[in-house]
Amino acid sequence: MSIPSSVVEQIKSSADIVEVVGWYLNLKKSGVNYWACCPFHNEKSPSFSVSASKQLYKCFGCGESGNAVGFVMKQDGKTYPEALRFLAEKYRISIPENTVDDPLQLQADAQRESMLILLQYAQKYFSEVLFNDSEGLSIAMPYFKERGFLAATIQEFGLGYAKDEWQGLQNEALQKHYSLELLEKTGLVIKKEQKTYDRFRGRVIFPIYNLSGRVVAFGARALKKDEKPKYLNSPETEVYSKSKVLYGLFQAKNHIRKQNNCYLTEGYTDVISLWQAGIKNAVASAGTSLTEEHVQLIKRFSENVTLLFDGDAAGIRASLRGVDMLLEQGLNVFAVVLPEGEDPDSYIRKHGATAIQDQLKQSVTNFIKFKTNTLLQDSENDPLKRADALKSIIYSISRITDPIKRAVFCKETAASFEIDEPIIVAECNKILLKERKDFVEKQKNTVVESEPNLSSEPSDALDVAQTHTQNNTNDSESLMVQLLLKYGHLIQKDTPIFAYILEECEGVELSNPVFNKIVMLYKSFIENGESPKPSLFLQHEDQAIAKVAATLLFSYNMGEKWKLKNNVTDNPEHDIYLEDFIYKSLVLLKMRYYQKQETDHLQELKQQTDPNEVRFHLMIHQEIKKQIAHLASLYGNVMY
Ligand code: UTP
Ligand code: MN
Repeated sequence: MSIPSSVVEQIKSSADIVEVVGWYLNLKKSGVNYWACCPFHNEKSPSFSVSASKQLYKCFGCGESGNAVGFVMKQDGKTYPEALRFLAEKYRISIPENTVDDPLQLQADAQRESMLILLQYAQKYFSEVLFNDSEGLSIAMPYFKERGFLAATIQEFGLGYAKDEWQGLQNEALQKHYSLELLEKTGLVIKKEQKTYDRFRGRVIFPIYNLSGRVVAFGARALKKDEKPKYLNSPETEVYSKSKVLYGLFQAKNHIRKQNNCYLTEGYTDVISLWQAGIKNAVASAGTSLTEEHVQLIKRFSENVTLLFDGDAAGIRASLRGVDMLLEQGLNVFAVVLPEGEDPDSYIRKHGATAIQDQLKQSVTNFIKFKTNTLLQDSENDPLKRADALKSIIYSISRITDPIKRAVFCKETAASFEIDEPIIVAECNKILLKERKDFVEKQKNTVVESEPNLSSEPSDALDVAQTHTQNNTNDSESLMVQLLLKYGHLIQKDTPIFAYILEECEGVELSNPVFNKIVMLYKSFIENGESPKPSLFLQHEDQAIAKVAATLLFSYNMGEKWKLKNNVTDNPEHDIYLEDFIYKSLVLLKMRYYQKQETDHLQELKQQTDPNEVRFHLMIHQEIKKQIAHLASLYGNVMY
């Protein structure tokens, strides 16, 4: 349900940024602004400022900035509407709910809310039993003690105990007027042949919280060694889907953001023991393999993930595959291996907090390196196995979204396997090319074949042109796409100009998604032996593509401003000039791209403390610098 814009305005004007930030941080006034240590990166002296007059916050250390709503989103990992609702509640602004709109939806919302309230009640009940009931105190408490869980940790994670009774929770809840129907709906009670009984009996309880800290499900561990199943979990319900919830994320989210890393483990107790050992940025998937939704959740807080592996060889092999998904989603993935047979929890119990902290620091490796080492060990004297290993690693590299990082890993892998780097790069590109082809194959049917009507200019084309030229960083991108569309199919010295443009721009990622689509389409036409005529773009079914193509093809003043600024002169009617013009434009485009990458990576480098990480980022940095130097020399050479 959307919030009416008048109410959005009311919320925005009521929420005072100094007050809102003050709920989370200890602000000190100095001069006209308020200051604190930045919650979004680690620092010792405050560089996070809040301006009451501007109603904005800004961190001079990490560059984060925004208004009150943005702050709540970032700090709490809330979506835009969630942040608005949160602030509305705080400032007692009522959001009119549209009852005419969808009564069924309202009913469903009410039911979800009742379920959440019951689940919260159940969590309290289990916790009471653990701390106050004789069965809880004599059976469950000693169990947790033996595992080394301290009272504060038990409280933090809301742990509890379900008595070994058929209707323990059920009777208590019914007495408190919760309905049997709701007890069943939440999975707390099971109905079988007219009989109803508690799902969790004689087990210790691990509540599972959603991102806003509400209990949505439980995991319940058996106490006896051979009892099956070891963990009994809540079923999927209207409020719980295990593919969308990560255990411990509610407790860990701020720590994940501050450390800019998320440890990914396998078990409830791993998360808890790590927390107790001072490593508070760990989560686990609850009895399921990692899903895209899980990854999206993590990405709200950090782009770095560290996997904690049990040293068991077979287990590691089995988990390697799933990691490609993490890379595909743009995460930087690292790995730590614990000694064979140890999970984080058992390791901590054996060796203590300092040992695990050291282990995490010392044995962290980049995932690609880790996979390489693991698979190389496996295939030492077996060339066929070695080839398979290499293939699998190249596939993982091809999943990495950042082209510079891909390049660095190709180089590292080449060295590890003692194979020429270009071979690896070519293999990697083959995979990407094939995917691009498949992607375009799908899109192809949508292209209408007909000649363009070049005389009539679409009326809204200018709007698009303006939006694209206003943005400075987009200038060079639009120029490249414009060159491609306008001149790409012309032949220059027996070679089509597109070959020239595309080769120069290989590895450069465009920040504008429509430009990206156009380039992909362009490549697919070439791969299919079709001439990439302007008409194919102008008539494309995707309106965004058609509009942008029209703008670029019809506007002659598009790159003019940019050209003047960069001292590029051209005369498209003269072939010699055209070639130079395109060449110079492309060199500049690439240079800009790498310069932006350089600043970004420097920023990242500054935040690294781990020596392995620093080494990795320095390597990337060198790679970028080399590219820039190379481009600068090219640019110098074509100056006249
Ligand atoms: P493990 O078997 O590795 O258990 O399962 P664990 O986390 O080390 O637990 P302890 O230390 O023996 O108490 C890993 C995770 O898989 C899920 C749970 O989420 C568990 O934390 N699991 C495991 C189940 O859901 N059901 C099971 O029967 C077993
Ligand atoms: Mn364990």
